[in-house]
Amino acid sequence: MIAAPFGSHTLQLSPDLRIVTKISPGQNQTSVDISCRALLEMRERICSVFILVIGVTLLCGLGCLGTHKSKDDGVHTEEVERPRQPHLIFIMVDDQGFGDIGYHGSDIHTPVLDQLAAEGVKLENYYVQPICSPSRSQLMTGRYQIHTGLQHSIIRPRQPLCLPSDIPTLPELLVEAGYTTHMVGKWHLGFCRPSCLPTGRGFQSFLGTLTGSGDHFSYQSCDGAEACGFDLHDGERPAWEMTGNYSTLLYIERVKQILQSHDPHTPLFLYLSLQAAHTPLQVPDHFLNHNDFQSNRLRRHYAGMLNCLDNSIGQVVQQLKSSGFYQNSILIYSSDNGGQPLFGGSNWPLRGGKGTYWEGGIRAVGFVHSPLLKRKGVVSRALIHVSDWYPTLLGLAGTLRTHIGLDGHNVWGSISEGLPCPRTEILFNIDPVSRKPGEPYHKAMVLNGFGIWDTAVRAALRAGDWKLLTGNVGDGDWIPPQALPGGPDRWQKLEKRRNELGKSVWLFNVSSDPYERTDLAEARPEVVKHLLTRLAEYNQTAVMARNPPDDPMADPELHGGVWTPWLGLEGDTEEDDGRRERMMKIKHCKLCKLKALFKKVGSRLQRNTLF
Ligand SMILES: *[C@@H]1O[C@H](CO)[C@@H](O)[C@H](O)[C@H]1NC(C)=O
Ligand SMILES: *[C@@H]1O[C@H](CO)[C@@H](O)[C@H](O)[C@H]1NC(C)=O
Ligand SMILES: *[C@@H]1O[C@H](CO)[C@@H](O)[C@H](O)[C@H]1NC(C)=O
Repeated sequence: MIAAPFGSHTLQLSPDLRIVTKISPGQNQTSVDISCRALLEMRERICSVFILVIGVTLLCGLGCLGTHKSKDDGVHTEEVERPRQPHLIFIMVDDQGFGDIGYHGSDIHTPVLDQLAAEGVKLENYYVQPICSPSRSQLMTGRYQIHTGLQHSIIRPRQPLCLPSDIPTLPELLVEAGYTTHMVGKWHLGFCRPSCLPTGRGFQSFLGTLTGSGDHFSYQSCDGAEACGFDLHDGERPAWEMTGNYSTLLYIERVKQILQSHDPHTPLFLYLSLQAAHTPLQVPDHFLNHNDFQSNRLRRHYAGMLNCLDNSIGQVVQQLKSSGFYQNSILIYSSDNGGQPLFGGSNWPLRGGKGTYWEGGIRAVGFVHSPLLKRKGVVSRALIHVSDWYPTLLGLAGTLRTHIGLDGHNVWGSISEGLPCPRTEILFNIDPVSRKPGEPYHKAMVLNGFGIWDTAVRAALRAGDWKLLTGNVGDGDWIPPQALPGGPDRWQKLEKRRNELGKSVWLFNVSSDPYERTDLAEARPEVVKHLLTRLAEYNQTAVMARNPPDDPMADPELHGGVWTPWLGLEGDTEEDDGRRERMMKIKHCKLCKLKALFKKVGSRLQRNTLF
């Protein structure tokens, strides 16, 4: 239990924004007053937006009712021209770092992305989660991980774990709103049951991979090293015949086919989730040749992958234009987490990288490109998070009924018109599984946590200008661009060695100090206390973290060499019998056991780099 101190806490988040938290004894109740000079003006503006929204909703409502009415009442109303729902193209790229896009001054050339961003809105206060599955889960649900049970790490291929079935996904709601939904690329949100697959969660078609980091040509994917299998699926069927085609190019071909065959009068949701530029670092040779000037071998391959991606996205936009989608389309581009400096990525000048809660792990490359934007060619500094796309896209589709239960906000007004941003805070995560006994955090609760919060738990929060980190949030090194052949090794873990033992709280004003160089935790204990209280409040709304152990039945060796659902429908009784039989098969294979032992050692080594 949290022993939150009673009384009233005031926190000046910015000159214009003050938050007063009141906790009274005997009551499990907290009241939060937000007083804000800007709020009054904002309210007026929001009010007029409201009236507009109501107007639009009424219009839409009339449009939707139009057909029903003529049936039910026999009244013949001409169908009212309803506002056309825009085509929504969401492009997620894998592991592109903050310093890996041309317009951030990168040594990697991305001319197409630079131009699309320059003609649209660049999101320069945009956050995602530090690793793959978490960012994707929030995109699909609009909820923080503490509300989906996916607090801890990625979903591993053999984990019987996927998105909660009772939370509607973004594509499921878009289908209800009349959209056709297609997914191309990497899923990485679990596949233990058929109902967990993209086609089980709202996508009407799917070509891509279910795991996180397969080979870009052979589509062989290994979990650690002891379980390997084929992972390329067309719908629910393994797509053996496409083996050998490079992932980015294969996916772009599928996107073109979709655009050529889809009627632009029906609204389209296309989720293109490229595995570039995630490891393994592979790319067709001619893209590699563009990068001979890169003396670092990993960076050269990584750059080639991004060049190929850049070129491919140009082709997608070309196809949007030639197939008649472009004028009514909204293209959103986002990285899923920071770059991995050990594999060619760069987040310079930000601190830390993929897998950490430092800015380098979570402040992402992102932009919106669309003829429908009210302002173009601008930079937005609105605080936006990956969980915001869910309500934002539903809003654009005209089907956002409520914010209840959501952690995301509809930020379209901020992006398109520069209206005040509804978001002032981001809970990056509270990961209870990260708390390991024996870590040198004896001071974690009483001293560092002021009795409010066990600071040995990995957690991170942004509130206004402030960012608070607790627990083991990953290596916080600043790793300069890898101009040298040697790679980033000599920069790695420097920061860890400098930190005093038992340090578990950091505080930064990230508006004035985006590189997190000045830790204010000791200088501003009142701010630390307030933010720890916020963490404790969020924690009270958390669901239990689901982190089941790997299931040996998932091994592709038992399923024709393919990563595929291995559990049936919920409550399937035959499952147990089949299960026992196949377990016996595994047990009798002594050679397999020996193989597994050797593989396990290898996989431990691999996993340690994952966080
Ligand atoms: C953060 O730093 C900026 C720039 O120095 C300053 O304007 C702002 O007031 C600071 N925020 C807080 C909450 O102190
Ligand atoms: C895949 O590659 C083969 C040849 O290797 C080619 O014939 C085929 O068109 C490619 N398919 C796609 C979808 O790119
Ligand atoms: C978060 O809440 C859970 C459940 O109430 C509790 O067991 C846990 O100790 C809390 N975590 C922290 C860090 O206070």
